[in-house]
Amino acid sequence: MTEPRPRVWVSQPLFDDVIARLEEHFEVVSTSGVAEYTPEQISAALSKASGALVTLNERIGAEQIAAAPQLRAVANVGVGYNNLDIPALSRAGIIATNTPDVLTETTADFGFALLMATARRITEAERWLREGHWRQWSFRTMLGADLHGSTLGILGMGRIGQGIARRASGFDMRVLYHNRSRLPEAVEREVRASYVGFDALLAGADHLLLALPYAKESHHLIDARALLQMKPIATLVNIARGGIVDEDALADALAGGRLAAAGLDVFEDEPTVNPRLLALRNVVLTPHIASGSLATRRAMVSLAVDNLIAALGYGPNAGAPPNPIRA
Ligand code: GLV
Repeated sequence: MTEPRPRVWVSQPLFDDVIARLEEHFEVVSTSGVAEYTPEQISAALSKASGALVTLNERIGAEQIAAAPQLRAVANVGVGYNNLDIPALSRAGIIATNTPDVLTETTADFGFALLMATARRITEAERWLREGHWRQWSFRTMLGADLHGSTLGILGMGRIGQGIARRASGFDMRVLYHNRSRLPEAVEREVRASYVGFDALLAGADHLLLALPYAKESHHLIDARALLQMKPIATLVNIARGGIVDEDALADALAGGRLAAAGLDVFEDEPTVNPRLLALRNVVLTPHIASGSLATRRAMVSLAVDNLIAALGYGPNAGAPPNPIRA
């Protein structure tokens, strides 16, 4: 009798041809439609699984781990992994992986697009036009803020932050950044960015872009106090995680004229968007799509598949997945 093949759970419909590579080694349990799971359903899906390929929608914590005695690897399709309880997975001897690098440039492109759309009021202007308000060309219609010649502040200077900085120098922007640790001088020179303290970043930026990981320490880092330190003409762009910004404080600042505009691709309670933000005209809102080019999303799934196969001890990198997350 042949041994039963290890079971892997694929939480969302991804790209069938890429996922098919898992079928060479495993019994794959997947879903045909986009699925929303309760914590109990995730526990049930993991109860007989050796591996899981999940997205940021699926939270895996102590409760799910306790229900999954055979689970040995979780491959996250995404670079951020705040949906996973990494210390708990590590304590249980379960390997967790993510998909860095393959999404860096696409996400940086989008960050820049969101910055431009926000500063130059592109979606607001389009809405206004579609609603039939445009009567004649006017000198003062939808006046926005320049990027060229302005100061861009980047909070979180990892791969994506550096990608944004490289783009900014093409727009003749001065780039300031703040990060947990300062970059080596050679990298600072290459991306043409200057390190400053957190408060100096807030005060100095004409445009502030968030590209830092979400963790306990970054929860509501951009709160009422931080927003008060920013210039009233400034733009705030978030492509990291919603929980980094106190959304009510942001809505207060935007409504009170203490911040010019915000561009948000991420939200604290996705897919719910704070109704106060929805009601404001000076916010560009997008549904967490920064890494969403077709080529990059395929590359992310493919890398997650490589990670899962290797983490479960198969394929050319058996036992050594390319992107383990360290606790
Ligand atoms: C998306 O937000 C990701 O973390 O990859």
